[in-house]
Amino acid sequence: MHAIVLYTSKYGSTKDYAGWIAEEIGCEVRETKKTCIEDLAPYDTIILGGGLYAEVIAGASLLVKNAAALKGKKVAIFSTGITPLSYREYYDTLVLEKNFKDGIPEGFKVFNFMGKMILDELSLPHRTAIKALKKLMSGKKNPTEMEKLLIELCDADGDFTDKDAIKPLLDYIRN
Ligand SMILES: Cc1cc2nc3c(=O)[nH]c(=O)nc-3n(C[C@H](O)[C@H](O)[C@H](O)COP(=O)(O)O)c2cc1C
Repeated sequence: MHAIVLYTSKYGSTKDYAGWIAEEIGCEVRETKKTCIEDLAPYDTIILGGGLYAEVIAGASLLVKNAAALKGKKVAIFSTGITPLSYREYYDTLVLEKNFKDGIPEGFKVFNFMGKMILDELSLPHRTAIKALKKLMSGKKNPTEMEKLLIELCDADGDFTDKDAIKPLLDYIRN
């Protein structure tokens, strides 16, 4: 296996997962923004992780847009976010629709891990965005289940990363 782990991480949680995965597999790890699709030609296995920002998996478009060039390779994409993993509809519908408009390409598999959001550590634009989202959602008279979830998540404050969560991804890569 000739593998590489790519990641995009602003607050460190995706970087941690990328490091854990690369250590287990014994492969190179690199920032997605320092990589172009041509660099990936020598690898038969590509793992890419990104934090979720308004349902978009940061950096995933590099592989999704170039899926045709990755034919025959094994590709795992993982997200990190603060939405509890039990909200399968969120991950299996909303996140997939937003990131894979034409469906999940052949050879790709998607994994979701819990990330971290420490409110005091957020950049000013991010803190402002979270506050604005909470205000907007809280003003709704009859919020939907998804809107109620969003209000709840705006207050999520903590590190929910879990090294053991990478096991299914490792199984997929190794088998
Ligand atoms: C502005 C903003 C938007 C976010 N949007 C989402 C989201 O849509 N879904 C989610 O589960 N988490 C969301 N999060 C939480 C981040 O995805 C989470 O903190 C992630 O672990 C960050 O990855 P990083 O530490 O590698 O940067 C958001 C956080 C911020 C600050």
